[in-house]
Amino acid sequence: MKLALFVSGTGSNARTIIDRFQAHPEDGVEVVLLVSNKSTAGALTMAAERNIPTLVLNRQEFRESEVLLTDLARFQVDFIALAGFLWLVPAYLVEAFPDKILNIHPALLPDYGGKGMYGANVHRAVKAAGETESGITIHYVNERYDEGNTVFQAAVRLDAEDSPEKIAERVLRLEHANYWRVIRRLALAAHQEEGGQD
Ligand code: GAR
Repeated sequence: MKLALFVSGTGSNARTIIDRFQAHPEDGVEVVLLVSNKSTAGALTMAAERNIPTLVLNRQEFRESEVLLTDLARFQVDFIALAGFLWLVPAYLVEAFPDKILNIHPALLPDYGGKGMYGANVHRAVKAAGETESGITIHYVNERYDEGNTVFQAAVRLDAEDSPEKIAERVLRLEHANYWRVIRRLALAAHQEEGGQD
């Protein structure tokens, strides 16, 4: 499976995924491209250091299909994982990659999802509501924020004194431990569907 990662910021999830699959080619997942909507994203340096080609797109380029679809085809991308990517995915991309775009969300959807619910906002809202647990959701992407079918969830217990930063830290640890595993599982399933042997 040839994977493209889409990021908007630090890219710690992208880093974990790249490091895992570069160290384990037997997993059958090759990260071939990192796409960012921000030219300042730390993830761009991280990817370049790991010899992963990068592409920065502005909003207009992202909304129009040509640039992105051309590049995804050039790198023979057959699967996309959003890793802290904050723009809504346009219809043409969902149609070009049906059930082949994953997102990771730092909460237990359907709670704490939707427009404006990302990153630190999510953890502040979880804290304000006095939740005793939070977690992660990995789901397929459709044309609405955080509404595609769920593939995987994992929860973490919260202590009453946990700050939003502490919650973020716990949730991020769960993300790093699980996102690549889910991608590997889907890659294996796709390989078997195509009639692969192992
Ligand atoms: C992650 O916690 C991810 O779940 C979240 O942004 C963070 C990115 O961190 N994504 C969303 O909130 C999407 N709605 P990273 O750049 O260090 O991987």
